[in-house]
Amino acid sequence: MATRRNVLAVVALALATVVSGAAPAVAGADTDTLRAAARGSGVRIGTAVDMSALASDADYRAIVASQFDSVTAENVMKWEAIEPERGRYDWAAADRLVDFARANGQVVRGHTLVWHNQNPAWLTEDAFTPAELRQILRDHIKTQVRHFKGRVYQWDVVNEVFNDDGTLRDTIWLRALGPGYIADAFRWAHEADPKAKLYLNDYNNEGVNAKSDAYYALAKQLRSQGVPIHGYGMQGHLGVQYGFPGTVFDNVRRFDALGVQTAFTEVDVRMILPVDPTKEQAQAYGFSTLLQACLLARHCVSYTVWGFTDRYSWVPGVFEGQGSATPYTESLQPKPAYQAIRNTFLLAR
Ligand code: XIL
Repeated sequence: MATRRNVLAVVALALATVVSGAAPAVAGADTDTLRAAARGSGVRIGTAVDMSALASDADYRAIVASQFDSVTAENVMKWEAIEPERGRYDWAAADRLVDFARANGQVVRGHTLVWHNQNPAWLTEDAFTPAELRQILRDHIKTQVRHFKGRVYQWDVVNEVFNDDGTLRDTIWLRALGPGYIADAFRWAHEADPKAKLYLNDYNNEGVNAKSDAYYALAKQLRSQGVPIHGYGMQGHLGVQYGFPGTVFDNVRRFDALGVQTAFTEVDVRMILPVDPTKEQAQAYGFSTLLQACLLARHCVSYTVWGFTDRYSWVPGVFEGQGSATPYTESLQPKPAYQAIRNTFLLAR
């Protein structure tokens, strides 16, 4: 059984291997897939899943099933998809993902219960009183978590609630309910499924900075108040043109010390197009460096990529002139980033 201890010893080797692309040989083990390489590491390897691609693209479906042991709905568990009209819930697409995961021996990360984006118009356009909003939030969280009870093992309870400077983001929830809405959201989710692990989740919070300091302080405060918060999610949307945060392990380690789990929840590493070999190599390093921090940590439990192929990645649609952010090309060929993820797992054995 692999331990986290031997990881430190191999980091230098991992870096060399990532750069050279050579795969270490592991005798007698089936290590052809990311999923097999991750086995025994204590870290699950996940992907976001695009449900229309899963339905229409057999090659896509085969890779989700074979390469990953955790899945996250890219969109279909968000509020606008789950409760498009007040009190009318549409579980169909999300249930299809949960069924697919069960059939393939995978766990499901739930994403997300409270966010300022992708909310239905009825929620954001109607002027509700604070008391009504509180009731709406409570009903939504309880209904959704109860529906997936025992089938979704982790929830991103709140997503992106801080600004980069560490102040709370101005949202309908903060305005109407004050900062206490965060603790309430965790309590309601816990009541609905006491076994689910409940997460904070954000971007630009991978290294030590004002935003992750705010999360650390919040996690500490909530724990001391007995609020059921179990995990800290770092999305991991990186770009080769920005370089990579150098203090990721320091950050993860302080959550370890608090007894809070960590997870990399939405990793992708974009670049300014066109692709060239230097950018692809830097990208491989970016994917690997987050995974190394996870493998080095005591309580980092999963590493999820936000889509595994450029064929369906959200990046080109949102970041103009950028792309190639995932471990597989549009034609589903593995890139150096894929080999880097696999090698980093293998070297930690
Ligand atoms: C993105 C999806 O990938 C897109 O398909 C959708 O149009 C917008 O949302 N942070 C998150 C994710 O927490 O839910 C976002 O997903 C990416 C940024």
